[in-house]
Amino acid sequence: VPIDPSELRNTLSHFLTGVTIVTTRDHQNIPRGFTANSFTSVSLDPPLILACLANNASSFDAFDTCTQFAVNILADDQRELSNTFASKRKANKFEGARLLDRERTAPVVDGALAWLDCDIQQRIPAGDHVILIGRVVDHGQAERYPLGFFAGNYLDLSLGRCKNSRAQFQHSKRYL
Ligand SMILES: Cc1cc2nc3c(=O)[nH]c(=O)nc-3n(C[C@H](O)[C@H](O)[C@H](O)COP(=O)(O)O)c2cc1C
Repeated sequence: VPIDPSELRNTLSHFLTGVTIVTTRDHQNIPRGFTANSFTSVSLDPPLILACLANNASSFDAFDTCTQFAVNILADDQRELSNTFASKRKANKFEGARLLDRERTAPVVDGALAWLDCDIQQRIPAGDHVILIGRVVDHGQAERYPLGFFAGNYLDLSLGRCKNSRAQFQHSKRYL
């Protein structure tokens, strides 16, 4: 029995993730980006991460030719930004987004929970997506709460209220 793509998407959506915006600049230096929950860590030494981009994304060419990209891990108050970057209709997704002033090219949005600025290490065609592997050259984090995504819906993980939760991360004392 062939696997139905939309049923597969539905099953995959039961894997709880965070939400990121992956950004770069195209050959005209115009900022481009898309919302992604396919982000994951790959390697610490060398420092590698990945995200998967659909072959039919309007930003595909920009990511297919760029030398740098950034992953912005979104905070719980950035749902609107996530929706904007997941929309195909929006002419300028970056309108209204405050960007950090940085030397490197890939846009980093102000207010993100964390960010990783990468050089392209490898692009691996994989089915209807391309796997973008980035080598981390700079990264940062902020004292905010994460935006979650589960079964097609945003999730307020409410880490601030889960004092006994095991959802601990490195600097959990700062958060809880
Ligand atoms: C929470 C969430 C996660 C998403 N994850 C991905 C992803 O990992 N890869 C992808 O290609 N599209 C993903 N999408 C869909 C893209 O954000 C969407 O197709 C967007 O319009 C692509 O932008 P573009 O076509 O302007 O490049 C996701 C959407 C949402 C809301």
